[in-house]
Amino acid sequence: MATEVGSIRPAAVEARGWGWRYATRRRWAVQDASFRIAPGERVLLLGASGSGKSTLLHGLAGVLGGDDEGEQTGELTIGGEPAGRARGRAGMVLQDPDSQAILARVGDDVAFGCENLGVPRDEIWPRVRDALEAVGLDVALDRSTSTLSGGQKQRLALAGIIAMRPGLILLDEPTANLDPEGVAEVRDAVGRIVETTGATLVVVEHRLDVWLPLVDRVLVLGSDGSRGAGIIADGSPQAVLRDRGRELAAGGVWVPGIRPAFPPPPSRPPGAALLRAESLVVSRVRGVAVAGPFDLAVNPGEVLGVIGPNGAGKSTLGLTLAGLIPPHSGRVAARAPLSAGVKGDPITWPSRALLTRIGTVFQDPEHQLLTTSVRAELEVGPRALGIPAAEIAARVDELLERLRLAALAEANPYTLSGGEKRRLTVAAMLATRPRVMVLDEPTFGQDSATWAELVAIIARLRDGAGGEDGAAIVAMTHDETVLEALRARVVQVGGSP
Ligand SMILES: Nc1ncnc2c1ncn2[C@@H]1O[C@H](COP(=O)(O)OP(=O)(O)OP(=O)(O)O)[C@@H](O)[C@H]1O
Ligand SMILES: [Mg+2]
Repeated sequence: MATEVGSIRPAAVEARGWGWRYATRRRWAVQDASFRIAPGERVLLLGASGSGKSTLLHGLAGVLGGDDEGEQTGELTIGGEPAGRARGRAGMVLQDPDSQAILARVGDDVAFGCENLGVPRDEIWPRVRDALEAVGLDVALDRSTSTLSGGQKQRLALAGIIAMRPGLILLDEPTANLDPEGVAEVRDAVGRIVETTGATLVVVEHRLDVWLPLVDRVLVLGSDGSRGAGIIADGSPQAVLRDRGRELAAGGVWVPGIRPAFPPPPSRPPGAALLRAESLVVSRVRGVAVAGPFDLAVNPGEVLGVIGPNGAGKSTLGLTLAGLIPPHSGRVAARAPLSAGVKGDPITWPSRALLTRIGTVFQDPEHQLLTTSVRAELEVGPRALGIPAAEIAARVDELLERLRLAALAEANPYTLSGGEKRRLTVAAMLATRPRVMVLDEPTFGQDSATWAELVAIIARLRDGAGGEDGAAIVAMTHDETVLEALRARVVQVGGSP
């Protein structure tokens, strides 16, 4: 990278008996964490979904808030100062890229943090260009941020942080939405940045194989399920994985070489198509074609995997198949038994008709949260269908249990961890038992235990139960393991196959 190291001071981090309990929760999100990170160290922070990784990063970034927001124990310092007061020393990329892309244009968005820090104007724009180049986001400075794909937004957020040149870089699942090429690019960009600046790095990611080459230490946060709390493993990646690999894998950490259990293959061949895409060209903005033409059958008893690079139109194809956005040209037609009792193509169906027929899980969970409790969220669909209360309660309890959300039944959906939100939106869709399920990145943000649970649930739906036909499942994903586990038929959108 052509940038100068400038005024970067790599920061030391220390936690002494640090803990945080969100005001709205009885349980502590993090309890009794103690560790020291030397300036310039590169740390991978691991732990099961809900173990408090994001909470710890928020604590370091000084954004957890005051006494109204929660209760704190112990100390958390950056360069010897309480984390909340070390302004500008820590830069964090949030887990949800959407919640970070704030300004309308790419250049302004990347410049925003620098402006806040009072960086001189003539220094800002060279920094912005360097940062965009470093993360491999090759778009015009005046490009609208709202038209970026999920993965591009992740790179944008990273560029904004890099431009600020913080002494401590905090990354919360920075590559979770990226295509494999993007994952390597972003990882390498982060590598170059810590190399040239010497900044301290703490990165959270479930899939550690990507980051192992770059980090020199692994910290593992415990959760209630494993060993109480605090840091349950700390050391070089080699030592931690060698000595504790099996135990950590059992606790939900993705340990390279230890594969989570795969469900059995489909028990019978797929049935006749429920949906057919005919010469389908999809578009997000009216009049602008994104991808196609597709001629596709969506069959019961089968998973159709949609793969392709960031921005290629996977989500757009999914939303179009789901009857939520109109085709640019061509059509999506429904066949019996899916079309029984409704007329026309799914795009013309009333939402109540869609509810039991085609269920959708959006890429960003927050785009589909409707209520103020996890339980209520799961009840919305079945209630709209007029299902009897006892039946609703039975369905909801089962989903809460299976997707490890039972302890969170009364929690506000917006306060869930990233992985918990994903499981909730999948569960909410399952609650109406649609025949066709369109899932955008269904395994996003999952530890290996919750991943295996989700995959097992999808496999069971695919196969049907008690003589019932299996569901037709469409999954847009960068997670090739999930498609392999579900024996998916794969269609490629954009890019080379
Ligand atoms: N704003 C909040 N208010 C209340 N509880 C919260 C809030 N954010 C997180 N929690 C809860 O704190 C616990 C730890 O959440 P956190 O987001 O830190 O987990 P995580 O390890 O990052 O999980 P994931 O891997 O799923 O992202 C979870 O039980 C979560 O539901
Ligand atoms: Mg998290």
